[in-house]
Amino acid sequence: MDQIVISGGARLNGVIPISGAKNSALKLMAAALLSDEPLTLTNMPHLADTRFMAGLMETLGVRIEWVKEASVASFHAPEIASTIAPYDLVRKMRASFNVLGPLLARVGHATVSLPGGCAIGARPVNLHLKAFEAMGADIHIERGYVKAAALRGLKGAEISFPFVSVGATEHAMLAATLADGVTVLSNAAQEPEIGDLAACLNAMGADVRGAGTATIEIHGKTRLGGATHHVIADRIEAGTYAIAAAAAGGKVFLKGARADDLQALIGFLTDAGATVATSVEGIEVARGPGRLSPVSFDTAPHPGFPTDLQAQAMALLTTADGDSVIRETIFENRFMHAPELARLGADISVRGAEAQVRGVPTLFGAPVMATDLRASVSLVIAGLMAEGVTRIARVYHLDRGFERLEAKLAACGGQVKRTKDGAPEPATEDAA
Ligand code: UD1
Repeated sequence: MDQIVISGGARLNGVIPISGAKNSALKLMAAALLSDEPLTLTNMPHLADTRFMAGLMETLGVRIEWVKEASVASFHAPEIASTIAPYDLVRKMRASFNVLGPLLARVGHATVSLPGGCAIGARPVNLHLKAFEAMGADIHIERGYVKAAALRGLKGAEISFPFVSVGATEHAMLAATLADGVTVLSNAAQEPEIGDLAACLNAMGADVRGAGTATIEIHGKTRLGGATHHVIADRIEAGTYAIAAAAAGGKVFLKGARADDLQALIGFLTDAGATVATSVEGIEVARGPGRLSPVSFDTAPHPGFPTDLQAQAMALLTTADGDSVIRETIFENRFMHAPELARLGADISVRGAEAQVRGVPTLFGAPVMATDLRASVSLVIAGLMAEGVTRIARVYHLDRGFERLEAKLAACGGQVKRTKDGAPEPATEDAA
């Protein structure tokens, strides 16, 4: 099993290129199922999660050509060979559940395993299923599988989500592109990945309006064609390195990062005392000597502070000059990094959805264990700040969402290495 070994204390100076967004790419790949013509994605991130999704797509009959060095992948589903997504595949990565809607829309039926819970919470899919029912699908749950059928096709519907769900918004959008009539999604998620998916679907010939606002209107079409689409920059990867730069000190330019997608984080970093400069080419984050200021925040749907950057922000605040309070409002169990950060000397108490972080002057390197994708990278950030050596076990979590993490940090002077301890990789467990 791989470990990440970090010698803390080095400042970060240089340029970090930001990869295509994992969370966008996974849904864009699912969009390829809607058409019998090829969908080509450029700026395609090569990650454990996207490789995994590609494996599932192949079992459904999608032909894939992926030039990893060029970050270009083409997905072609001239025919759907199977409409079944088995438990073993969906359990490992929730986003694979998103093949249900496109299969249902294209061939009228699909059998997809329920994803189940994951490390950060129960994460039900009731909103996804309600949306398909509203569009006329028959949904049955049998032995852990969702069996969905709409043999005479999906119908446009008015769907009002009781609370914001990124996955349900994207899933309903995908299916509605081939529904008969107009679908209106109210209280829709406004994450940048939704806009990216809408742009891709429209390039394929769909008619999606209002993505990026709370109301999305989809005028169904009888068929979609092929397209070439550039995956947006990963705002979570960019935000992670922005926090890393503020944590380690120095000056880092995040090439390709989109400031518009990261306003809440930029406000947070500025309040903490880092300097942030933005341009169309990217975001520059700098921090001088001295301790940062404490900052309290709540996670919230976009444009609020992203839950996927909460763990990284907590790592930064562990050495702030005072107390911060973090409230996690999206997932019920997303503070598993707190006890690991405490192993490095952080002073954090968690009560329900609230964590109080009392800043300490210094963290000290220690062996720690990654618990999920974003938590694991918070330990990397803490390791960069700590005195001495931090060893992070279970880094397969990192590989799900961060492309060439060690290389990107090392290029800026970070003392970050990957080692192998010979133990086998366990079966992965999903988390955001
Ligand atoms: C996506 C992101 C994840 C991010 C999250 C919130 C991907 C692959 N993952 O996850 O990285 O942390 O958005 O920004 O894009 N819920 C229900 N019923 C449903 C659907 C969701 O109760 O049918 C709940 C969830 O358990 C959670 C909340 O709604 O508490 C928000 O979840 P959602 O926005 O759907 O997250 P995901 O799309 O799974």
